[in-house]
Amino acid sequence: MQNREQWGSKLGFILAASGSAVGLGNIWKYPHMAGENGGGAFTIVYLICILVVGLPIVIAEFVIGRKTQLSPVGAFETVAPKSNWKWVGMLGVASAFVILSFYGVVGGWTLKYTLISLTGGFSQLAGDPEASGTLFDSFIKGALAPILWQIVFMGFTIFVIVQGVKGGIEKWTKIMMPAILVILVVLMIRGLTLPNGTQALDFLFKPKFEDLTASSIVLALGHSFFTLSLGMGTMITYGSYLRKDQNLLSSALWIIFLDTLIAMMAGVAIFATVFAMGADPGAGPGLIFVVLPTIFPKIVGGAIWGTLFFFLLFMAALTSAISILEVITAYFIDEKGWGREKAIIIFGSVVTVVGAFCSLSMGAFNITSFMDISFFDVLDYLSSKYMLPIGGMLTALFVLYRWGVPNFITEMVLGMDDHNINPAVVRILFMVSAAVVGFILLNEIIATITGTPIIG
Ligand code: TRP
Repeated sequence: MQNREQWGSKLGFILAASGSAVGLGNIWKYPHMAGENGGGAFTIVYLICILVVGLPIVIAEFVIGRKTQLSPVGAFETVAPKSNWKWVGMLGVASAFVILSFYGVVGGWTLKYTLISLTGGFSQLAGDPEASGTLFDSFIKGALAPILWQIVFMGFTIFVIVQGVKGGIEKWTKIMMPAILVILVVLMIRGLTLPNGTQALDFLFKPKFEDLTASSIVLALGHSFFTLSLGMGTMITYGSYLRKDQNLLSSALWIIFLDTLIAMMAGVAIFATVFAMGADPGAGPGLIFVVLPTIFPKIVGGAIWGTLFFFLLFMAALTSAISILEVITAYFIDEKGWGREKAIIIFGSVVTVVGAFCSLSMGAFNITSFMDISFFDVLDYLSSKYMLPIGGMLTALFVLYRWGVPNFITEMVLGMDDHNINPAVVRILFMVSAAVVGFILLNEIIATITGTPIIG
């Protein structure tokens, strides 16, 4: 693998990996989860989970990728030849197919909403959640329009990664990540300077522990995984384009910091606007596509703020989608010897077709109707509740029991100034991380079988 592509700079790598982490999870999921689970209390639990469960696994994925210079399947195969560990890599590639199928559909929605806002379409929704709900419903349940937007979104994804790691992924995330930050700062200032806007800060950051329930803890744990793109080898793949001089600990801390910062900023921007306009902070998943379009037109210059907001959401989704498609692409390049273009065009198209069925399942035609759940929800549920946690837990177990903590540390310290890493601490961190994820999984399995979870 002499010609393996490499990142052009340390910053480029950090921005690309945080681009993967920052996505719909930060801007769409985190605010509504916090809104429904007591605000500040949820935020505190989420921060603890990110550090305890997330950090060790981010680092593990980077270290495995950089050590082997291969995407997940080849990476596990190299460290543990002729063993079943390569199936952890296969699970990652499968997860990538599953996630990108529905992620691309929502990516299409963000484009459509950017356009609606740009053309002044929110103005007749002012203060009318019902009209806004109807517009959203009739759009996503349509047969043709959402698929066309999904295809456009997937087209952007393919366009970026076809240009390669440095010339495509790195180049574009270096533009989009700063743009995301700038837009968020603007929207946050706009929100906080509205009357009552600062209530958002109390809501998000003042802990009200009486609102904290067992189920919000489980949610926070699961989300810490999803938001950092863990458990499917994304970070292994991105780590495989690194040279040995990158400090993986500080890179991981930067990525977690940016991911968390952006989730918090999005929360402040959204809730400031919600409180200023007297809307309901606990509106749930519809907070963004249904509630926000009714409040933007009530603010001076609302069409601009709305357009910026949905464009930001689009860029966040795009930088994540890029990393998901790259996992699939890298697998076919590394393991099957395919060219980049061929892999991307073929599998980008396959994912788009599967995604079209997700989109159709919202209303027009649901291939999983026999299970009483939409195909979209099947894929979402399968990946975030099972595939990603299983992948993440196995990655931690791999370091603990197959590769070995001392070997892991030897590779990890390359590029770091301080080589004194305490193996006992590392071991405990991985054990806690694996145990916590194992518990969420068990809880979910028990809930599915018996109808009542142990906690939650
Ligand atoms: N982290 C992304 C977000 O918060 C979603 C995601 C989950 C993801 N797993 C992934 C993105 C794997 C890329 C790769 O929206």
